[in-house]
Parts: sequence; C-alpha cells; structure tokens
Amino acid sequence: MKENLSINLKNTSKFISFEEIAAFAQQSARHLDTLNAGTGSGNDFLGWLSLPDDILPQLDKIEKTASYLRSVSDTTVVIGIGGSYLGARAVIEALSHSFSPLLKSKHHEVIFAGQNICEDYMAELIEILDKRNYSIVVISKSGTTTEPAIAFRILKDHLEEKVGKPAAAGRIIAITDAKKGALRSLAKTNGYETFIIPDNIGGRYSVLTPVGLLPVAISGLDIRMIVKGARVMEELTRNNKNAASNPSLMYAATRNLILQSGKSIEIMVGFTPKLHYMLEWWKQLFGESEGKDGKGIFPASVDMTTDLHSLGQYIQDGQRILFETMISVKNPFKTLTIPKENDDSDQLNYLAGKRLSEVNHNAETGTSLAHNDGNVPIITINIPVLDEFYTGQMIFFFEMACAISGYILDVNPFDQPGVEAYKKNMFALLNKPGFEEAGKKLKERL
Ligand code: PA5
Repeated sequence: MKENLSINLKNTSKFISFEEIAAFAQQSARHLDTLNAGTGSGNDFLGWLSLPDDILPQLDKIEKTASYLRSVSDTTVVIGIGGSYLGARAVIEALSHSFSPLLKSKHHEVIFAGQNICEDYMAELIEILDKRNYSIVVISKSGTTTEPAIAFRILKDHLEEKVGKPAAAGRIIAITDAKKGALRSLAKTNGYETFIIPDNIGGRYSVLTPVGLLPVAISGLDIRMIVKGARVMEELTRNNKNAASNPSLMYAATRNLILQSGKSIEIMVGFTPKLHYMLEWWKQLFGESEGKDGKGIFPASVDMTTDLHSLGQYIQDGQRILFETMISVKNPFKTLTIPKENDDSDQLNYLAGKRLSEVNHNAETGTSLAHNDGNVPIITINIPVLDEFYTGQMIFFFEMACAISGYILDVNPFDQPGVEAYKKNMFALLNKPGFEEAGKKLKERL
C-alpha cells in the first residue's frame, strides 16, 4: 500500500502538548458532521466535497479537449484570476520540468493571463503570441470579473485577427457558469466549446473541476492520477472522526490552537521552487476562507532555502507572532551529486559525493531546529514525492482542513465578501455606468 501524506507535530510540542492538540482535534471532529450534513454556514458551496467522484465522468471530455488543443497549437493562454487561476498554475508548476520552455523536445507551453491589469505584461505577451500558434482557455465562474474579461477581449481580438474568426472560435474554450454571466453569452454567440463550473463550488475550491484539470491536462500531466490522490485523501479525511488518523483535522486543530496562543501569522514553507505556486494557491484558499469578521490566521509563504537569506532573519528573530508549516518532500525524481575537487579550494570536499537532496534535507532540519529554538512552532507536512498522486492528496487535504478550520473559527469558509470593496471603488473611479454617485464621492477624497 502507498504511503499517504502525513503530518508531524514534533516541532510544536515545545509550545502545545500533543495530548492537547489530539483532544482539540477530536472535539473539532463534529465539524465533519456539519460539513457532510450540509448544515453549516456556506452550505450551498459544498460541491467540492464529493468532486473526486463527481468529476470522473468529465475526465474523458477534458482529456479529449486537451489533446485537441495540443494538436492544433503549440501554446495555450489560460485566462483567469484567483480561484480561476491559482490551482492550475500551482499544479503545473509543481509537476513540470523547471525549464520546460527551454526543453528541446516538443513542448506545449501553458501561459497565464488575466491575473493582473499590467499593460506591459499584456503588451509583452502579445509580442510573444504574434509568433506563436496559440489557443485560449478563458475561465470565470461569474463571467464578469474585470481582469480576465479585459485580457480575453484583447486576446480574442488578437487571435481572430491572426487566424480568422471561425478558426479562432474553434480554439477558444470557455469555462463558466451554466447559464449566467457575460462569458456564457459570448460563448453562446460565438459557438465556443464550454465546460461548466457548478453553482455549488466556489472558485478557490474548484481546482478539481475543469477549471484546474483542463489547463493541467493541456500541459501534458496525468489528471486521473491527481483525482486518484484526491480520492484517497477524501477517504482518509471526510468521514474519519478518529482525529489522530485524520491529517486535515489534526492540521486544522493545531493551527487554531497556535492562533489561540497568540501567534496569528502562518508561514507556509517549501524547500523546492516547484512548490512556489502551490503556496500561492494555499494562501488564497486560507486567506479568502478565514480572513473575515475580524478573524483568521494571516497566511504567508516563503521559498527555502532562497528566503533564508531574506525573511529568514525575521522568522528567526523578529516579533514572535508567527508559526510555520513546512511541506517536506522526501525524495526528488532526479539524482545529482556534488563533485570532488582535488585542490578543495572552495572547501566543499566535505560534501563531495553527497546528493543535493541530502544537503537540502539537512538545511530543512537545521532550519526547523533553529526556528524552534527561536520560539517558532512548526507543523510538518510529509509527502514522499512531488507527483500527480500526492499533489491530488495535498489539494484535498488543504481544502478539507480549510473548511474545518473555518468552522473552528466560526466564519463562513466559502464566501469572500471583502473582495467586493476594491471592485466597487475601481468601477466608480472608471465611471462604470451605475457607479456615478460613488465615483463622485471617491474623487472628493483624492
Ligand atoms: O475564490 C474565489 O471565489 C475567487 O477568488 C474567484 O475565483 C475570483 O475572484 C475569480 O472569479 P471568477 O471566476 O468569477 O472570475
């Protein structure tokens, strides 16, 4: 039997006893009943709970669409923001070759747009797309989010000009609501192929729908293995009220007990740059789910060992308001050893013959011990390798932990009312029809 993702609380024991955590986790198991019965807040957004099964009938269509786009183009631009962007990017970056665009072998490039409004970014992207044979996947549940809508308008025009309107329509896939929103209307008018984001799944919980799986399949990864990993994690967590063997419950309980002890910032730590966007996805998942009603743990992230040479100083020695969660990947896929030099002029011969992963693991252990000595509690999440199966496990593990943690905090983990505030101001400042009065008031304040 395959080993599963697990959590290790050795480096929290100095701050909170394992017994206290186990007892609180056991007490928190009641939130599983609330989730499964659909009786808690945000209960109209629980579709993600059964996605590892519910998505199976759609995998064929997702794979067929992905291979079609790969056959007609060398690049796909995936347009989306927030939950309609981060999951796909997290999985693709975690599992692809670090230098994939530079690989000589035939490679289908997935590029992201619509996650910012930077003029230079878009203009430079167009410079690249002028020379590429590309397709577009546009993702927006509401179908009205400004950033992706602007990017889509620009790139749709560019593609239509490049290959003609009918051919462009054959290369544009829209992932959106079944009925409502401007993107749904555009798809209908232009005859784009579409995938539906179900009403009962919020953006940040949608990575196991076509929102995440189509871009991942286009990049050539095995989406069935991702779903299989998520399925195993669902079995391990969803109905498992024995807290000690339920990693999502243990993680949710531990981070909340640490919060109650006065540490309100959680730094998610990766020791491979491949995890960078997984940490970004995690920040959105937990930040949007918990940060409301004046509550929540502030989610931050660092890439080690890179950031040991920047934020490492603060973590070790700054205000004692933070704790860390480290994702520890046991084995790399490749092998590289440090060579021996006869004159040892760089004094590294003590490492000669050792693998880089051994040095990295020692950096990880050394960092944990040092930060622990600096009064930073550390939760460790262990995964054997960074592959499709364990990425699927991580996704479901974090989603389940986030929902439980939100209920522990007594917030609705499935809404994001705070995201609207900047949008209203931006619309008002840009004179969007209907926002004139608000615009006048805002401009008086400038
Ligand atoms: O998690 C969420 O719901 C948000 O981050 C959304 O995904 C994000 O705002 C994009 O929304 P939409 O998919 O409607 O364009």
